[in-house]
This record gives sequence, C-alpha cells and structure tokens, in this order.
Amino acid sequence: MNKNVSQTKDYFSELLPLISTDKREVVIFPPFTSLSAAVSCTQGSCVKIGAQNMYFEDSGAFTGEVSAEMIRDTGAVRVLVGHSERRTLFGETDETVNKKLRKAFETGLSPIMCVGEDLNQRQSGETFDFIASQIRNGLAGIENDSIVVAYEPIWAIGTGVTATSGQAEEVCGFIRERLAEQFGNAADGIRILYGGSVKAGNIKELMAMEDIDGVLVGGASLKSEFADIVNYDD
Ligand code: PGA
Repeated sequence: MNKNVSQTKDYFSELLPLISTDKREVVIFPPFTSLSAAVSCTQGSCVKIGAQNMYFEDSGAFTGEVSAEMIRDTGAVRVLVGHSERRTLFGETDETVNKKLRKAFETGLSPIMCVGEDLNQRQSGETFDFIASQIRNGLAGIENDSIVVAYEPIWAIGTGVTATSGQAEEVCGFIRERLAEQFGNAADGIRILYGGSVKAGNIKELMAMEDIDGVLVGGASLKSEFADIVNYDD
C-alpha cells in the first residue's frame, strides 16, 4: 500500500532512466488505483505492470473486490496471488489462492503464487511439510506450467533478515521437486523467485543459486536501489 497516482508517476520518471534491459523481466506491482497510471508511464519501456491481488469471480455483488478482467483491462499483465500479507492479515487460504490462480489463467493474467513459512514453523521443523501443502493445495488441478512461484519466508519479509542463500536455495529446490511431481520435466522451466529483504547487497548471491530464477522485492523496490537490483552484474 505505497504510492498514489502522482507518486507513481514520479517513481517511474526516476526509475526508468536507470534501467534498460531486454535480458530480465521487470514487473512493478502498484496498488489498484495506480495501475492505469503505471501502465501509461511504462509504455515502450522494459517494465511491465502487475496487480497485488484480485478476486476470483467475474463481476457482481462483491463490494470492494477487483476482478482479473478489470486488472487485465488496465493493461497490467501479471498478478500476485497469496502474498503472505494477504494470507495473514486478510484471510486468504490455499483454497482462495487456487480459485484466483485458475481465474487469472482463464483471463490471460500471468499469476505469481506466493508461499512461505513463518518463524514458528521454521523453528519447529515444519517448513517443508507446510510449503508442500501450500503448493499441493494452491496448485490443485492447475495444468498451466507458466505459473511462477515465489518463496517468501514470512520471517524474512520486511524484517531486514534475509534468508541465507543456502536456506533460500534449499526450499526453492524443494519447491521445484514438488512442481516436478505435478508438471513433470516442465518444472525445470518454471520460474521460482525468492522474496524477503532482497537488496542490492544480496541479489548476486541469491541469483547465483541453481533454483532461484528471480526475486520479489518489497521495501527496496521503493528506492532507487531497485535499479541496482535489476542491473546486478551476473
Ligand atoms: P521485503 O518484502 O523485500 O521488504 O522483505 C518482500 C515482499 O513483501 O514480498
């Protein structure tokens, strides 16, 4: 919940001159009210726009909700589904995640499904069982292997505590194994992102990991540091 329309315009006029890449997919996820402005600002640039959430019904009496089609209509191309804040603060479940993923694909929006354990689960050794169940239930019945999965340990989001590259790789590798059970060999090509206190100072080490194909950046995306993350030298 950052940046109104005029702040969004300022943001892109500062950011866009700093990044130019056809090698990396760069997507910014502003709040709903800034989607259209963000799409206009980024036209002709290497940056695409996505939404932070969506609802799984097409239209109707669902006050306060925004459909996949409404998002698509702004020119946005991606959507985040099941971010941990949606799950912990707003009651999102694996079942609603699954419905949203289905609707996103049906509408032509490319979804990113977020998964991740909290500190209690990590400390009590439940991480792998929990992630496996989020993947199994979130992706139940979904055959579209253009899904992107973001591993975001809750204890690392917005805390300044980044998972070590070893911890992140261990879970991302585990996620790829679970994806292989569902998608077979196509799992090798499914993009798995790491998120949680990603910064210019740790991007290189994280991206060097075999099963980390990209990152989901929160706090650092609000600063010009984001350009250094996009432009990191591999
Ligand atoms: P952070 O946020 O980079 O500030 O930890 C990540 C996220 O919210 O997805």
